[in-house]
Amino acid sequence: MGNRVYVFDTTLRDGEQVPGCQLNTVEKIEVAKALELLGVDVIEAGFPISSPGDFNSVVEISKAVTEPIICALTRAKELDIDSAVAALQYAKRKRIHTGIGSSDIHIEHKLRTTREKVIEQGVAAVKYAKKYVEDIEFFCEDAGRADIEFLAKMVEAVIAAGATVVNIPDTTGYTLPWEFGARIKYLIDNVKNVDKAIISAHCHNDLGLATANAIAALANGARQVECTINGIGERAGNTSLEEVAMIMKCHPSLNLETNINTKQLYPISQLVQGLMRMPVQANKAIVGKNAFAHSSGIHQDGFLKHRENYEIINPEDVGADLSSIILTARSGRAALGHRLQVLGYTIDKPKLDEVYQNFLNMADKRKQIEDADLKELMSI
Ligand code: KIV
Ligand code: ZN
Repeated sequence: MGNRVYVFDTTLRDGEQVPGCQLNTVEKIEVAKALELLGVDVIEAGFPISSPGDFNSVVEISKAVTEPIICALTRAKELDIDSAVAALQYAKRKRIHTGIGSSDIHIEHKLRTTREKVIEQGVAAVKYAKKYVEDIEFFCEDAGRADIEFLAKMVEAVIAAGATVVNIPDTTGYTLPWEFGARIKYLIDNVKNVDKAIISAHCHNDLGLATANAIAALANGARQVECTINGIGERAGNTSLEEVAMIMKCHPSLNLETNINTKQLYPISQLVQGLMRMPVQANKAIVGKNAFAHSSGIHQDGFLKHRENYEIINPEDVGADLSSIILTARSGRAALGHRLQVLGYTIDKPKLDEVYQNFLNMADKRKQIEDADLKELMSI
């Protein structure tokens, strides 16, 4: 098995399903072009049968973006597939993503059918789609909770029918990382035609484990990861693209490679936050406002002595602004002295001790001390 991991971005499909995050076609094209620049391998551009607007977006993205594969989602139904085939007509490289529920809970309580019938319907959908498009991805919805032997049977049947990628979604974000990793390993070890397809991981974040589960899947043989910018997606979201990409980059021991240009991670995060009106929390890994901000005295002192004391990622590697030292009542003399020096003040130790006391009094009242506040302090 090679070490190349294909990055499948679903910001414009699973991400765009989020209430309030809908984009118009022009905005979607802007995001798709940014995803192309970022180096993703596949863009899931939409679910064409869901609305005329989504259909049109898949058409226009297919025209505007040429490097990544453009993928369209369908249920395991001929009408959905017909719509996806039509929407993808201009795509230089195209994929249909079809599938059906695989857990007993979905089979009994959502689809109200039987295990045998879902395999039949899934296989028929792959065969039908294959008449029009060579690259077919099949999703086994709710695979995280499916009976593992049945799941293996389903995966084998859809690969035999022509699926080139099989998506194993943890649709409800239920599994633990070692359980999800073991599921992928079971499929790799037990599905006899598994070498004819790529196994993909699509994880949701209901328990905050989407990134950990995706990495566990990759460590156990999945070679495609499905993710979104800023981790947006249904409910608590999906695996965050910036997190998985940086985990693979920061941990060479994983021996996994992507085509992602990590310097584009911060710019695309900002673009998606703005267009979707969905700001990330300040402490969001990689792209949050505080991801490279140091505020406690102990950390600031260590950071100023040697950046790697407190940073495992160089902000420039993700296209972010430089690291920042935030001055609050928790800051120490090292950070204060450093900032005063940056502002052009030369200050000896006794004077720094004196200014520091005034600084603490001010910081207790003002939460965060800005440069203007420091100038005020220095004029006392
Ligand atoms: O979470 C999920 O199961 C999905 C499928 C449609 C792939 O988004
Ligand atoms: Zn999903």
